[in-house]
Amino acid sequence: MYNIGIIGCGHIAAVMAESIKTCPDHRVAAVASRTAAKAKKFAKEHCPDAVVCGSYDKLTRLDGLDLVYIATPNTYHYENAIKCIKAYKNVLIEKPFAMGLEETKSIFTEAKNRNLFVAEAMWTSFMPLHKTMIKWIEDGRIGEVRSIMSNLGYDIEDRPRLTDPAMGGGSYLDLGVYPTNLAVSILGYNITPVSAYAHRFSTGVERDVHYILERAEDGATAAAYVTMSNLTDRDGSVIGDKGYIKIRNINNYEAIELYDAKGELVEKAEREGLDGYALEIIECCQAISDGMIQAPSMPWSKTHAIAEIGDRIRGMI
Ligand SMILES: NC(=O)c1ccc[n+]([C@@H]2O[C@H](COP(=O)([O-])OP(=O)(O)OC[C@H]3O[C@@H](n4cnc5c(N)ncnc54)[C@H](OP(=O)(O)O)[C@@H]3O)[C@@H](O)[C@H]2O)c1
Repeated sequence: MYNIGIIGCGHIAAVMAESIKTCPDHRVAAVASRTAAKAKKFAKEHCPDAVVCGSYDKLTRLDGLDLVYIATPNTYHYENAIKCIKAYKNVLIEKPFAMGLEETKSIFTEAKNRNLFVAEAMWTSFMPLHKTMIKWIEDGRIGEVRSIMSNLGYDIEDRPRLTDPAMGGGSYLDLGVYPTNLAVSILGYNITPVSAYAHRFSTGVERDVHYILERAEDGATAAAYVTMSNLTDRDGSVIGDKGYIKIRNINNYEAIELYDAKGELVEKAEREGLDGYALEIIECCQAISDGMIQAPSMPWSKTHAIAEIGDRIRGMI
């Protein structure tokens, strides 16, 4: 049985705790909140057998945790991760991994020095449909990739965390990392932003961001629109010179469709099985058990590339 600790008893931590119940040999063994009463309520609702910790420090002092999942606001990921790593805990950190490349590199250095596992909880990377889509591309089913287009938008501007600069709010860090992960997964790490535009809330963080990434060697591009002010269809297209792929919901793959150069549907795959949260927990625990310090589906090099691109985009808008 793998024992998972959770830091931060908010929205996504609750979703994760429920998903862990669907994993075969995994359980939430401890939960930590800044207040004991909140941790107790969370445990009662989602994981009644878990050790309840009224501070994050208390959880980091527990023995027997295989993995600690950090589900705090974006600006706290770094300090929470470093605290865990210094206490010799393996960590899975919610996206965005940190507030930029410097923090990202520092987390990797601290983990490497202690031979500890670290991964970014970029759940889309762990989804089977994401992997099938990458295989279609690697097998040449759409030829040379020319363009990726995707959008991701929700009507979430009323959530204080998301518009608060002190929490790392704004649509790039909360949503933009998904299209960037899609672009990096398909075009590789050597892509750079060539254009970026943002419309901001009065708090200063972005409401909408439009951006284009380019692979200079062949001019392949990835264009994205992310917003916190309205729901979008969340679809993506990957266009090659011999066909194209439609992704239904780039944030939680529902289906992928492969079309040939004449626009005829030739293959379709739909989501089945465990959700992305469960899959990332299972893969991370398996990697730890195999003595690895990185997750095969979300290696450090990929998180590094996403952080570097994110810094550049945020520097342009
Ligand atoms: N993978 C996904 O699909 C997905 C979806 C949504 C969010 N996320 C990511 O998950 C992280 C958490 O998002 P969320 O939506 O769960 O946020 P949330 O509901 O606001 O929960 C965040 C938790 O962080 C803790 N926290 C620590 N310091 C805090 C502070 N100064 N102010 C407020 N809360 C603080 C709080 O827990 P305690 O009070 O218990 O300490 C709070 O409940 C973010 O990084 C976000 O990008 C990922």
